[in-house]
Amino acid sequence: MAVTSFPKSEIKILLLENIHPVARDELAAQGFQVECVSSALPEAELAERVRDAHVLGIRSKTRITQKVLDEGKRLLAVGAFCIGTNQIDIAHASKRGVPVFNAPFSNTRSVAELILAEIVMLSRHLGDRVTEVHAGKWRKVAVGSHEVRGQTIGIVGYGHIGSQIGVLAESFGMRVVFHDIVAKLPMGNNRSMPSLDDLLEVSDFVTVHVPETPQTKNMIGPEQLARMKQGSYLLNASRGTVVVIDALAAALKTGHLGGAAIDVYPSEPESNSDGFESPLRGLTNVILTPHIGGSTEEAQEAIGKEVSAALMKFVNQGATTGAVNFPLVELPITRGTHRVLNIHRNVPGVLRDINKIVSDLQANIRAQVLATDPDIGYLIMDLDQDVSRDVKAAIGSLPTSIKTRILF
Ligand code: NAI
Repeated sequence: MAVTSFPKSEIKILLLENIHPVARDELAAQGFQVECVSSALPEAELAERVRDAHVLGIRSKTRITQKVLDEGKRLLAVGAFCIGTNQIDIAHASKRGVPVFNAPFSNTRSVAELILAEIVMLSRHLGDRVTEVHAGKWRKVAVGSHEVRGQTIGIVGYGHIGSQIGVLAESFGMRVVFHDIVAKLPMGNNRSMPSLDDLLEVSDFVTVHVPETPQTKNMIGPEQLARMKQGSYLLNASRGTVVVIDALAAALKTGHLGGAAIDVYPSEPESNSDGFESPLRGLTNVILTPHIGGSTEEAQEAIGKEVSAALMKFVNQGATTGAVNFPLVELPITRGTHRVLNIHRNVPGVLRDINKIVSDLQANIRAQVLATDPDIGYLIMDLDQDVSRDVKAAIGSLPTSIKTRILF
């Protein structure tokens, strides 16, 4: 079965913001028309260019507003070649039947490696020693410098990044404990702790890898810092709102904490040309980095592959795996059928109307799957070929339908 209702060469993909070339190569190899632009586009220009695009690929700087989505009459999908999707009006994309795909896990390893490096840096006060030598000062000291072998790392949030760090830290000879609100299978000899407080009290290094949620906002504040061991270290490369920065600065100044490595901040500069202010600047044994935990060439390439693969699967087969705003539907292709894809408003009676159409046209359904979220429903049906066009036309004209496609 060919997989699109019109030749792939007529599907236009517009990639903005210097997305890794692997994405262009993989999409072009599928036969799609791919156009690349190196920068982000302002709203008015994007609204113009999106008119004949079937797929739009962006990174974090392009804003996809309601106006852009409304102009994108042919738009099938948006690929966010990054982690966050705040730059996109997600609710309006759903309303218009446009799934948004991102790449949440492509930079897991990059963050984990950075944390491991920083643990050694903190334990050896490397940041300060390097600065001193660059300034022409020679301070050869061993006091206060330690190997990390045998020390305990406490991982808060044992998800993709946290568990990867657990594996790497253990092979480094560290003892690993973790805390998560969801029961997790411990990797290797990693041990789960019953509570955050228990973890804070036993850890020489506490590293935080939780998402930004109401529960994690300010989760490491004065009380939690006070519970940490004297001279221990805090690392945060998750989200800036998780740690109360003033409380951390105070704990560092009193010497209760021996140092910190911070990659994310409650408010971050918009661009590389803006300045950076923080109460943490200038403190001893504090490593400050500009949100680069996941910024490696490998991660960019992995993002390029992951998002383009998700986009291809959606265009070619209708699968929404990896979409942030769509019900998850994935159905293996049934040989010798045509596939009808229907996105509709999730209101009572839609399925009844669709079933009536199928029954009136005496269409034989060979496979079917429907999933809904509170706003939209997404249906994939594999049908005998003789009736598929009529079914598509009838379903597409229902007042509840947002978008209907057919794949031959
Ligand atoms: P994930 O979703 O795989 O793991 C997060 C874990 O935290 C889950 O196991 C979840 O159950 C747990 N969790 C949630 N609330 C919790 C709570 N209140 N207490 C304890 N555990 C809790 O996420 P992933 O991929 O590991 O990412 C973690 C964080 O790292 C995210 O905030 C993400 O935005 C950030 N990140 C930062 C990067 C950087 O450049 N610095 C790059 C990539 C991710």
